[in-house]
Amino acid sequence: VSAAMTEKPWKRYTGGEAKGFVDEMRLVAMKLHTRQQAQEGEMEAKAPEEQRVEEWEPTLDGYLKFLVDIKVVYDTLEQIIEKPSFPSYGEFRNTGLERSEKLAKDLKWLEEKGYGVPEASSPGVAYAKYLKQLSEKDPQAFICHFYNIYFANTAGGRIIAKKVAEKILDSRELEFYKWDGELSQLLQNVRDKLNKVAENWSREDKNRCLGETEISFKFYREIVRLMLS
Ligand code: HEM
Repeated sequence: VSAAMTEKPWKRYTGGEAKGFVDEMRLVAMKLHTRQQAQEGEMEAKAPEEQRVEEWEPTLDGYLKFLVDIKVVYDTLEQIIEKPSFPSYGEFRNTGLERSEKLAKDLKWLEEKGYGVPEASSPGVAYAKYLKQLSEKDPQAFICHFYNIYFANTAGGRIIAKKVAEKILDSRELEFYKWDGELSQLLQNVRDKLNKVAENWSREDKNRCLGETEISFKFYREIVRLMLS
């Protein structure tokens, strides 16, 4: 039995030595969390959304704004993958991680319950515009956003979801946090594809991709902040 087979799958992605390119992306992302957000975080919390989720005071209005804006981002991401400007994006069609339709269901449900669903606001619109432009000129940098946006939602996103559901949604779990199939398997399939695509990249390409993580955090944080507005 090889070491790879006895190793617990999650162990490979919790820091230490990077074995594939996804590990490198993860290491960079984890460092950009605050200590309050994640154990592996290295940043100091300043803004409210950087504090411990337990201490958050989300509002329903704010959460609706978040859902609308994050939907604009997923809509755009999923349109880019459907009509790829670069062949490598085609690998990421129908991964099972897609969120656009799920969010549409959630917003429909919230609307039916009589909640006022707002128009998209500048954080979501600005990120979507940035993604569209980037996807047409720099596939390596674009893939960094693809990774961060989908994986953030399955990690921190679910912690936030629990808190928000308890506080303001009568513990109803939104479709946004439900996946068809085993999530760990879907994530692993995408990690494998990301590693495969990045095998053809030069070190320079990889570094450009990793360098984009900070921009992804900056945009995404603006959208998360809407929950607390
Ligand atoms: C992973 C929390 C925001 C990207 C994690 C993990 C936690 C966490 C606890 C570790 C999960 C594990 O044990 O492996 C949070 C909280 C946030 C936040 C509370 C509050 C706003 C973000 C943002 C991004 C991001 C803004 C990027 C746009 C990621 C990525 C991972 C991760 C890529 C790795 C996921 C994986 O390996 O499966 N986050 N996060 N997070 N987060 Fe965040």
